[in-house]
Amino acid sequence: MRTEEARPIRLEDYRPPDWLVETVELDVALDPTATRVRAALTLKPGSNGAAPAPLVLDGEGLILKSLMLDGAAVPAEQYVATSDRLTIAQPPPRAFRLEIETEIDPSANTQLLGLYRSGRIYCTQCEAEGFRRITYFPDRPDVMAVYTTRIEADKTDAPVLLANGNLVEAGDVPGSGRHFAVWHDPFPKPSYLFALVGGNLACVEDRFRTMSGRDVTLRIYVEPGKEPRCVHAMDSLKRAMRWDETAFGREYDLDIFMIVAVSDFNMGAMENKGLNVFNDKYVLASPETATDNDYERIEAIIAHEYFHNWTGNRITCRDWFQLCLKEGLTVFRDQEFSADERSRAVERISDVRGLRAHQFVEDAGPLAHPVRPALYHEINNFYTATVYEKGAEVVRMLKTLLGPDNFRKGMDLYFARHDGEAATVEQFVQCFADVSGTELAQFMRWYSQAGTPEVIAAGRYDARTRTYRLEVVQSLPPTPGQPSKEPMVIPLAVGLVGRDGRDLPLTLADGRPLARGVLTVKQPSETFEFADIGEAPVPSLNRGFSAPIKLVANLTADDLRFLAARDCDPFNRWQAVQTLATRLLVDNVAALRAGGAAHRDAGLLDALAAILDDGALDPAFVALALTLPGEADIAREIGRDVDPDAVFAARAALRAVVGEHLAGALFDHYRRLSEARPYRPDAAGVARRALRNACLDLLVATRRPDAISLAARQYQVADNMTDRAAALATLSLYDVPERAAALDDFYARYRGDPLIVDKWFTLQAAIPEPATLDRVKALTAHSAFSFANPNRVRSLISAFAMANQKEFNRADGAGYDFVTETVLALDPKNPQLAARLLSALKSWRVLEPTRRALAQAALRRVAAAPALSPDVRDIVARTLGED
Ligand code: BES
Ligand code: ZN
Repeated sequence: MRTEEARPIRLEDYRPPDWLVETVELDVALDPTATRVRAALTLKPGSNGAAPAPLVLDGEGLILKSLMLDGAAVPAEQYVATSDRLTIAQPPPRAFRLEIETEIDPSANTQLLGLYRSGRIYCTQCEAEGFRRITYFPDRPDVMAVYTTRIEADKTDAPVLLANGNLVEAGDVPGSGRHFAVWHDPFPKPSYLFALVGGNLACVEDRFRTMSGRDVTLRIYVEPGKEPRCVHAMDSLKRAMRWDETAFGREYDLDIFMIVAVSDFNMGAMENKGLNVFNDKYVLASPETATDNDYERIEAIIAHEYFHNWTGNRITCRDWFQLCLKEGLTVFRDQEFSADERSRAVERISDVRGLRAHQFVEDAGPLAHPVRPALYHEINNFYTATVYEKGAEVVRMLKTLLGPDNFRKGMDLYFARHDGEAATVEQFVQCFADVSGTELAQFMRWYSQAGTPEVIAAGRYDARTRTYRLEVVQSLPPTPGQPSKEPMVIPLAVGLVGRDGRDLPLTLADGRPLARGVLTVKQPSETFEFADIGEAPVPSLNRGFSAPIKLVANLTADDLRFLAARDCDPFNRWQAVQTLATRLLVDNVAALRAGGAAHRDAGLLDALAAILDDGALDPAFVALALTLPGEADIAREIGRDVDPDAVFAARAALRAVVGEHLAGALFDHYRRLSEARPYRPDAAGVARRALRNACLDLLVATRRPDAISLAARQYQVADNMTDRAAALATLSLYDVPERAAALDDFYARYRGDPLIVDKWFTLQAAIPEPATLDRVKALTAHSAFSFANPNRVRSLISAFAMANQKEFNRADGAGYDFVTETVLALDPKNPQLAARLLSALKSWRVLEPTRRALAQAALRRVAAAPALSPDVRDIVARTLGED
């Protein structure tokens, strides 16, 4: 258990390290409960100042066995070793060698941070501050060292021994039944990128020839027997490697790249140099076990971790405040990869849906923070949607503002200038300022000011002067610690759409064409004038979601229907449908709460029918257009006094109306898309299945018996997991006899496969019925469930708290009680997991008064519990706003 320290940590307090580490030689003798770690560090004074500083090394839960300096034991009075710190008050004022021996117990490590066991496999997770749980070390990213790792283990227990870099030696330890391997990583790296793995693993091997003609060995290690499920991961890896060469000129640098899949992992995956460790959920796939969505996630995460080799590893972060420097940038890169590999429009719409569902919600609540926070209590809690997803949007805005050529030049300069360094956000942005000659000081506010900018845009056409004036007003709401804000730089991609659906040429009042169709809004209020406009156009604003803002524009329902049918920007076609639906749903929630009935809206139904009818559209796009805004989208739009039951009811009713109204066309498309073809997870196959399943979902929403039996039949005859899981997901929303039968069948079919049983847990947790809470509680006692495995906890309990707004927000507060009690039970074992689960309550303030009070009471009970981890303490304090 960690002790609570006097924190917070502040960006402004950053000081360069007093001591640097040049090399690390680790010698790790693996043992299930008593692993011995010998670390030999060559230290030298930092360039910090003249006075020799004390040497203070981080530790966590360590027991020091011995300490030697330049080959001699350090006398007891010259150092202090506690479980979380090793201090040598007066080290020699020169370079020296320090040898530290510690002993750790990987089997007792339930936090899954540091060295732990996943099943019978030994593995490590060091980001952000896990290396200090292995040995005493200056565990901060600006201390970069060259590592050599010797691992020794029982030959039968751990026949495979891996670490970062290249294998330099391996052999038997004579007369002991043990063996060893020595790995050397020539690239200096921060301790958070260290990794080591030992165990009985099978591997799939392939090769990649880099653009300069070097051959790289690629290996994916998995549990023996799972090798056939690595095909997609290996294929994704090779495509990602090629893409980084073409899109960014980045080549891989070591002779070998390894991925290890483990079953117990707090996150999705980790980019350790040359040795990525993955949650097996994001490696293993076959048509029978994984959905199209799983295939997409695997591809994106494999790419993401691989891309970190340049954005994160070769250039790392100076300190953890700069986390977005590697995460936001790498998310941007993986989004671009997916856009190039699949459909750019569909990728953008999916990314924006994710951004709004997670980041906008975070930005609107008590956990709002800037993309680069200025202060933290617990860094684990800052791997957030804001750092990742808004961080990616900020990089995308740089590209939109400067244009693709300057963006690429800026990236090239960043790689050239900072390779091998631990860099800052300022240094990153400076590269773009330098290549483009653009002043980016105001742009830096995207990193420092939290909150989602609100932009009100009003356009007016003047036929007499043939001008179109667009008035834009921006504001940024207050967020915790930031009561007032400065105006932002907002790249607003715009088009003026003429009656024939074509864009009118955009000429500014000074006679120049608008470069790339992007307006740059800088003032709190600004007016842009376009000259020589021959007809009254419909404005298409924030095309491609060029800025992560909340936009309110004076568009009528007719304008929106027109854009839905004609805009050349596919994102805004989709957005127009969403806006129409959201307006209607918000009205209907109010009507239902007032005891009235929901309205229908012919405009929305016509727009949907037209899109469904438009044979030129990508079926994946049509599927997204048919998906009504989620409950969280509706709640966000309502903003306060939210009644989740009314939100659910309004959305469910509208789904049924759409299903009834379009039933003929939906059945036709369903049948048209049903012809048998072999399953392939490529863009075309994914798109067909997405549309077919979207049609099925709307039809089942009507509860027509023919639709229900269609779903039941699809469940039975599906030859792939995508169609089977989609049919079950749609059936499981309704209390029909087919549901219970299909759920039982699903478990019986897949009971041997934990990753599929996770889907079964999630589907049941998402059922929008009062019995669900008891069902979820009962499932925690199911033999397939375990609180020790993060995937199980997320698939059952996080799914309940995050994907079932109606039942989690039960009016009696029992949902909050269950989740907060689970948080308290998890916290002593796995505080990271507990803290993430607790963040499901982050929107409690927008609820109607009864639920708000119940949620607050549940949070207060957490806050009052004894011995909270720093992780949960931080989240509960900020969520309650009592920090
Ligand atoms: N570096 C992170 C993994 C990580 C996060 C380790 C937090 C320790 C603490 C990795 O690159 C990452 O971002 N993984 C994501 C997936 C990615 C596609 C956004 C994850 O694990 O969810
Ligand atoms: Zn990452």
